[in-house]
Amino acid sequence: MPETTPTPPATKKVRIRHFQNAKANGIKITGLTSYDHLTAGIFDAAGIDFLLVGDSAGNTVFGFDTTLPVTVDELIPITRAVAGAAKRALVVADMPFGSYEANGDQALHTAFRFMKETGAAAVKLEGGVRSAEQIQRIVTAGIPVMGHIGFTPQSEHGLGGHVIQGRGSAIEQLLADAHAVEDAGAFAVVLEMVPAEAAKQVTAELRIPTISVGAGPHADGQLLVWTDWAGLTSGRIPRFVKQYADLSGILTEAVHAFRADVDGGVYPGPEHSYED
Ligand code: KIV
Repeated sequence: MPETTPTPPATKKVRIRHFQNAKANGIKITGLTSYDHLTAGIFDAAGIDFLLVGDSAGNTVFGFDTTLPVTVDELIPITRAVAGAAKRALVVADMPFGSYEANGDQALHTAFRFMKETGAAAVKLEGGVRSAEQIQRIVTAGIPVMGHIGFTPQSEHGLGGHVIQGRGSAIEQLLADAHAVEDAGAFAVVLEMVPAEAAKQVTAELRIPTISVGAGPHADGQLLVWTDWAGLTSGRIPRFVKQYADLSGILTEAVHAFRADVDGGVYPGPEHSYED
């Protein structure tokens, strides 16, 4: 028997120790991104383990082409909205491009802002070896950090686009990044767009849980951008995404029905109108 407490019942607040327990007990961790109070409440009540207020909000909420332009000031209010809805799930605030790379002081300042102003329970930042100092400074201040390696969208120009990381001999860099993140004190690490076998090796070597975003089935958990997962994103979505709903289709149908009802004088009917 492993010397760990069991994964908590669905009503108990998820803490970072539950991530560790889940890995030790072979229980998969599930996460979704979230950017608003209502959907956060739905995901939380349905039992998702963690909600990431990702800098993907730059794409999904603000409509930028990349995650690079989104700022701390833009992410703070939506993180607060999500944290206010989460009764059980652990809320992770994503540190955007330009808010932590300079040095440990800058990273700590940004992490303090997210913790004081949003109610999130952890922060996430991108980079392995190159971000180890920042992770260590934040963890030392008592703030849990989720790492993020493999394809790191904030570096998409440097990486030459959305390119799979850790293939062939590049697994050496992936492993070095993974160990650097763990050694710096992160409680979990996101592996984005890496081959399944590479993710398997990283997962076997690390004590902390790995969370896959397009890294195959062997990671300790799975995370998806909710608008991709629910079929709301327009245009091309990555191959690793499985769509669990067609929200775009449902909303389009609802708009057509509304338009037709208004045009035809069907809406509003007497049941939707006030009497004198
Ligand atoms: O911002 C985000 O949504 C992310 C995930 C894709 C890992 O960083």
